[in-house]
Amino acid sequence: LKVVLAYSGGLDTSVIITWLKETYGCSVVAFCADLGQGEDLEEIRGKAEATGASEVYVRDLRAEFVSDFVFPMIQAGAIYEDGYLLGTSIARPLIAKAQMEICRLTGADAVAHGATGKGNDQVRFEMAYAYFDPKVKVIAPWREWTMESRSDLIHYAKKHRIPIQATLEKPYSIDRNLLHTSYEGGILEDPWMAPPEEIFSLTVNPVNAPDQPAEVIVSFEKGIPFAINGNILDPVTLLTEVNRLGGEHGIGRVDLVESRYVGMKSRGVYETPGGTILHAAHRALETLTLDREVLNLKASLVPRIANLIYNGYWFSPEKEALWSLVKKTQERVTGDVRLLLSKGSVRVLGRRSPYSLYRKDLATFEKDGVYRQADAGGFINILALRLKLYSDQVGGGEF
Ligand code: ARG
Ligand code: SIN
Repeated sequence: LKVVLAYSGGLDTSVIITWLKETYGCSVVAFCADLGQGEDLEEIRGKAEATGASEVYVRDLRAEFVSDFVFPMIQAGAIYEDGYLLGTSIARPLIAKAQMEICRLTGADAVAHGATGKGNDQVRFEMAYAYFDPKVKVIAPWREWTMESRSDLIHYAKKHRIPIQATLEKPYSIDRNLLHTSYEGGILEDPWMAPPEEIFSLTVNPVNAPDQPAEVIVSFEKGIPFAINGNILDPVTLLTEVNRLGGEHGIGRVDLVESRYVGMKSRGVYETPGGTILHAAHRALETLTLDREVLNLKASLVPRIANLIYNGYWFSPEKEALWSLVKKTQERVTGDVRLLLSKGSVRVLGRRSPYSLYRKDLATFEKDGVYRQADAGGFINILALRLKLYSDQVGGGEF
């Protein structure tokens, strides 16, 4: 048996290498995806080898992550339960896809991941595995072994001489990539307790942000951001740049209680600086360029699309169907948005587009030649008809 493990270099997946070999007598291929988590991947490669992986693959997936996952998600306006920008949820299907490629490349028979049996990540990994190869064997150590806590893992690692730096005082579960950093566990498990300031890594506290606000212009073509302040940037550089700007101004911190797909509530703290800016800019451009009913239709689909991503159905027929609609809506979402970043907030200052539906001659309160005010009288009479009927039925409106 040969198993490809989604390996991060952390405590859990280090223990998993040894546990897999011991439990299954298999060889373990460690696969490490670079999604911009800002770690030294050569160091992680060395660690995987030292821990006993027979082969190690490191893949830079950053460009694919931003172009094919993050930006399309922003086009869709997907936000889960009104607050979570889905930074972890959107990364899992890509990691799983690349892992399945390595599985095929190395002739392995199984894949494994380090997600616990209590969370969303296991579902996301395994839904993608199912899509790419329904026949591959899936091993989820957290659902099989008897270890239950971080101290159990540390104990196991010591016993098996697995090189780890983890100590008991690193109580958070952290997931970082180019889009966000998430924090769960530890003191955060009490939803009454505020997140300690020292956990944050991508953003300054808004109260410590510069007093001088920054103006930034984001340019989009067909709903995809391609330039910042007039400089055309590749997707990875662009997201890195808005992260830097947002981080400096304390933008994109959220603290929420969310509903996990497996049923329980969990408390998460997130930093999504660049993503927050891009969402705000994209929405502003849509208000200028999308027809009212299209805007409405899209807004009504946001919870569905966000659930789909959160729950792990990125590779699914419903995703394909929904995205053909999203793509169609983005054809004229082209133009510039001017924003002000200040002390944790993003404010839209202006927007412009060659496809703007905004017509000054229509909206103006000055005299105009296209819209006849007299027409509005008949329009209102007809629209009010059912209210008049209702009024009769109930014997007049109640004050
Ligand atoms: N609760 C978030 C989500 O479900 C973040 C999960 C973070 N995962 C992790 N392994 N630390 O998307
Ligand atoms: C985990 O349980 O592995 C992390 C949290 C989650 O997947 O929701």
